[in-house]
Amino acid sequence: MSERTGCMVAIDGPAGAGKSTVARAVARRAGCTYIDTGAMYRAVAYRALLDGLQVGSDDRAIGELAGTLTFEFRDSDGGDHLFVDGEDVEGPIRTPEIGNLSSSVSTIPAVREHLVAAQRRMAETRSVVMEGRDIGTVVFPDALLKVFLTASAEERARRRYEQLIAGGEDVSFERVLANQRERDERDSSRAIAPLRRAEDAVEVNSDGMSVEQVIDRVVELLERRLEERDEQGA
Ligand code: DC
Repeated sequence: MSERTGCMVAIDGPAGAGKSTVARAVARRAGCTYIDTGAMYRAVAYRALLDGLQVGSDDRAIGELAGTLTFEFRDSDGGDHLFVDGEDVEGPIRTPEIGNLSSSVSTIPAVREHLVAAQRRMAETRSVVMEGRDIGTVVFPDALLKVFLTASAEERARRRYEQLIAGGEDVSFERVLANQRERDERDSSRAIAPLRRAEDAVEVNSDGMSVEQVIDRVVELLERRLEERDEQGA
């Protein structure tokens, strides 16, 4: 299966639904490359912040900036890290501040155009499991399997809160929940490529499921799709 190219699995869903953990594990099991597109929007936000650019007044410059950056996912420190123009940005892009800013930056049409093009190029020479908000609807509408991964707002905020605390961040649960609500609202209501389930996506609600159960469910769905494809002689 890994000799094929294109998007094998598109995993979309709101913040904190567990997309990264699930997508990474599914990619490993399927022998595909895992691509975290949220990291790319975060990286543009991070670089814009370093350059002193502000969403609203400097959208044009932020769009241009997105077009000049080179993105590469590499194994580093036992995980997949995003390198932007050769710099490992994994640490700085994971803060709540950059999370928020990336949601605003992702509303800029030129930023989306550049990043979508970069994401499509990444699947030209290999098969990928890609996660984000618009993978099944915009980036790869022909993905072999589309999964819309959700969980209740409280459950998602609780998971993110625990992740942040484990990473040494000083945050309150209420702040994480409020922050997430704001981001969900912006990501779902923006004019271009808003977060929504593709019509042909399978919805998986992970409330009450362990991570392993969710991974097994997605792998099972993928195996079924691969069988169907092979039966059709594709
Ligand atoms: O998945 P994440 O939380 O790391 O994503 C950060 C932000 O990037 C998210 O709030 C919305 C945006 N994003 C997007 O607009 N489209 C994607 N495919 C992925 C992320």
